[in-house]
Amino acid sequence: MLLKEIKTIFQKELAALYPKEEIDTFFYAMVEHYLGLQRFVLVVTPNITLTKEEEQPLFEGLTRLRLEEPLQYILGETHFRDLVLEVNTAVLIPRPETEELVDWVVQEWGNREEASPVILDIGTGSGCIAIALAKALPSAKVVALDISEKALEVAVKNATRNEVEVTFILANILDFDTMPERAFDVIISNPPYVRVSEKPEIRNNVKKYEPEQALFVSDEHPLLHYKAIARFAHQHLKKEGSLFLEINQYLGKETKAFLEENYFTKVELKKDIFGKDRMLKALKE
Ligand SMILES: C[S@@+](CC[C@H](N)C(=O)[O-])C[C@H]1O[C@@H](n2cnc3c(N)ncnc32)[C@H](O)[C@@H]1O
Repeated sequence: MLLKEIKTIFQKELAALYPKEEIDTFFYAMVEHYLGLQRFVLVVTPNITLTKEEEQPLFEGLTRLRLEEPLQYILGETHFRDLVLEVNTAVLIPRPETEELVDWVVQEWGNREEASPVILDIGTGSGCIAIALAKALPSAKVVALDISEKALEVAVKNATRNEVEVTFILANILDFDTMPERAFDVIISNPPYVRVSEKPEIRNNVKKYEPEQALFVSDEHPLLHYKAIARFAHQHLKKEGSLFLEINQYLGKETKAFLEENYFTKVELKKDIFGKDRMLKALKE
């Protein structure tokens, strides 16, 4: 079959689920992943014909897309900054907002001569934050923890694949205090922050496939993890160490106020590229 005919089938079969541009993105990503052909090749060679064998992964992928499975889980990998990371349904798919949080730390530490910060990433998931920081700040010592053993298995593989050293720990941040005091220059976290009442705003492909434990918090205690992280960071950050957090866009003011009233100074709220309150940096008092 002609490759462009398969593209038309993708558009027809997925039209009820996704906008046209997104379907094109899925299609070209699969063509590149399974056939090694880049998008521009299809433009300059419009009549590429595939064998049955070559077609098969594209149609299998289409079946999974129709079930609203995220593209990244189908391909088994995603991009985060300059990294390629393995992902499966045990881990959240890393988001562009989180790249911005990492950028913020790199801006702060990248230019400091003889900087070898000790960094802790809480709720590491795929390991994206920890591994990206270890890569960008080669003299940093990076530790990362998560409550999910399955997530840590993925994170360990990702560190190996990207040739960085990160110490991974299985731990529950709501009940964890076995680290040496004042051990860290930077504590960073993208904890679960979507309130259950926000579920209607969340796309099906996220709700159906991404881990609940990575995403949702109760409406009664939306800052549960932030409070535990702030307490932990107060004990375990070095003097003038800093805390970097990704936050719920609707809870920027509340989260900032909590940190200012408890243990931290110079709390800075920052918007993401979509103009939403998304990140906080706080200095230990
Ligand atoms: C929003 S995801 C972030 C994953 C990854 N850091 C990222 O930015 O893509 C939150 C992570 O926190 C972990 N987590 C949830 N509750 C936790 C807890 N009580 N203690 C430690 N980790 C927890 C989840 O397993 C999940 O991997």
